Amino acid sequence: MSVRLPIAVIGAGVIGRTHIERTLSSERLRLVAIADPSAAAAELARATGTPHFDDHHAMLAQAKPRAVVVATPNATHAQISVDCLEAGAAVLVEKPIADTLADARRICDASEATGLPVLVGHQRRHNPIVRKAAAIVGSGALGRPVSVTVMCTWLKPRDYFDAAWRRQRGGGPILINVIHDIDLMRHLYGEIDSVQAFASNAVRGFEVEDTAAVALRFRNGALGTITVSDTAAAPWNYDLGSGEAQRFPQQDINAHFYCGTAGSLALPQLELWRYRSDHGPAQGWQDPLTMERTAVHTECPYAEQLRHFVALIEGREAPVCSAQDAYRTLAATLAVADAAATARLVQPSA
Ligand SMILES: NC(=O)c1ccc[n+]([C@@H]2O[C@H](COP(=O)([O-])OP(=O)(O)OC[C@H]3O[C@@H](n4cnc5c(N)ncnc54)[C@H](O)[C@@H]3O)[C@@H](O)[C@H]2O)c1
Repeated sequence: MSVRLPIAVIGAGVIGRTHIERTLSSERLRLVAIADPSAAAAELARATGTPHFDDHHAMLAQAKPRAVVVATPNATHAQISVDCLEAGAAVLVEKPIADTLADARRICDASEATGLPVLVGHQRRHNPIVRKAAAIVGSGALGRPVSVTVMCTWLKPRDYFDAAWRRQRGGGPILINVIHDIDLMRHLYGEIDSVQAFASNAVRGFEVEDTAAVALRFRNGALGTITVSDTAAAPWNYDLGSGEAQRFPQQDINAHFYCGTAGSLALPQLELWRYRSDHGPAQGWQDPLTMERTAVHTECPYAEQLRHFVALIEGREAPVCSAQDAYRTLAATLAVADAAATARLVQPSA
């Protein structure tokens, strides 16, 4: 049997706990430390029999992990990731890779300087639904991409905002949720050329937005829109439809609609709409459209992401979402925030 890779999780909050659970059930990983100053994290470490550290410096020096998961608040990602790389550990850092492009660049540079891989936690790319969607779009079944419509609407409960960083700039649904949608749009349709947006904090009144409407232009010429609100009693959201995170009850809905000249694809139900018979130039809205729905095997994308992380460290697979790739997703997402703040058309920074 292969050796288990020593891994540590830094930040044992909502998503850190998912990583801890998946690490504990992995045949290829051995959880050697949890680093998080909170009492809840110390308790979790006790309950799982894992050495606990208040900070990542002491943890890196004593536990000497070969891999770490960084699942701390956004603004801390860069410093912690750089420290881990410099201590010789490969990094799986949660999205967003950082909260500024300068910090994201520091992670890219440290990965290059140390020769150690960085994987960024855009876990949807590891979901069989998204793999199949990429294969469908890549096969040309949609024809020329013309538009994409994305809904990201749901209701975050009041106590979600007890953590101060979630009420402050950078902690809202654009950088927390829409970044996943933008990453998926980039994954399927390619680079984003420019964006315009409106944002509103009218319902909660926090510094951070609770609702936004975004228009995007892709380099391939397609246009897109995103409607996001975390104060809407609504199910139209990739996470609720995909069943990706067990903490959310699954809804039988689609939330992303990719349209092309030859067909269109609704996600996460993987519904492909096409004309079955070819009427040449006469084809049009009076002809019946047929829908094929592909059922894929369910796989936990967080577990699959960790499997891939091990393969990446062992040099057996190329990164599904590298630091550079996540840098571009962050650049497009920050462009949305910038466009909303300035009421201007913004092009993502290179
Ligand atoms: N990929 C996903 O599905 C997903 C889902 C949720 C959150 N996230 C991302 O994960 C990160 C954490 O989000 P969350 O919702 O779990 O937050 P959270 O507030 O629930 O947890 C953060 C944890 O980090 C700890 N922490 C803070 N500073 C630390 C430090 N310097 N060293 C060690 N621990 C520290 C806190 O005590 C807390 O336990 C964010 O970047 C978020 O965007 C990703």
